[in-house]
Amino acid sequence: MPDDPTASPPPAPGAAPPGAEPDALFASLYGAGHRRCALPGARLEVVLSQERPIDLIELEALCDAVGWNRRPLRRVRKALEHSLLRVGLWRHDGRLPKLVGFARCTGDGIVEATVWDVAVHPLYQGVGLGRQLMDYVIASLREMGVEEVTLYADPGVVEFYSQQGWELEPAQRRCAFWYAP
Ligand SMILES: CC(C)(COP(=O)(O)OP(=O)(O)OC[C@H]1O[C@@H](n2cnc3c(N)ncnc32)[C@H](O)[C@@H]1OP(=O)(O)O)[C@@H](O)C(=O)NCCC(=O)NCCS
Repeated sequence: MPDDPTASPPPAPGAAPPGAEPDALFASLYGAGHRRCALPGARLEVVLSQERPIDLIELEALCDAVGWNRRPLRRVRKALEHSLLRVGLWRHDGRLPKLVGFARCTGDGIVEATVWDVAVHPLYQGVGLGRQLMDYVIASLREMGVEEVTLYADPGVVEFYSQQGWELEPAQRRCAFWYAP
């Protein structure tokens, strides 16, 4: 991983060591349902939250970083508002957490849901955060009672999902798509 962000410099003199901050601070920044990620050996904290509001500009920068085409912010804002679940993956900072990953879901929240826009910033990829992001998404959907979850994987990422137990749609026989002309 280039410029390994987990290899951060030693804390400034007098600064609280990582992990020493009170749970109340995390709850106030990320909401009661947040989950701290496991990053063995890392000096930083990365936190999953479905409650901390997503800043559209930060989300756009994340999407730029993974090479996705830009979408009009007005439409993205509406899409987020209408989503069932919005999950941010945050590099913890007591003053200004940084968005380093994201996923959202649409659906009825009772029977089914669909996962969209799964992304981890390239500097934070390859250390298990994508898997933890998906675990958190599924756990959040299970809490709602959702029993059936679908997603549409980009061709180069199918293995990422199948490794996590996702079943592949058999031989393109059951999936149908419609795109606006
Ligand atoms: C796909 C993505 C979310 C994975 O995030 P990540 O944090 O790098 O994933 P993890 O480190 O948790 O990887 C978990 C496992 O999946 C594997 N994996 C990760 N990305 C993969 C890929 N593109 N293809 C195949 N396997 C992959 C890892 O090797 C790892 O395997 P291991 O447990 O055997 O070591 C991230 O690469 C990303 O944001 N990519 C760009 C955007 C994108 O394509 N999103 C998906 C749209 S459908």
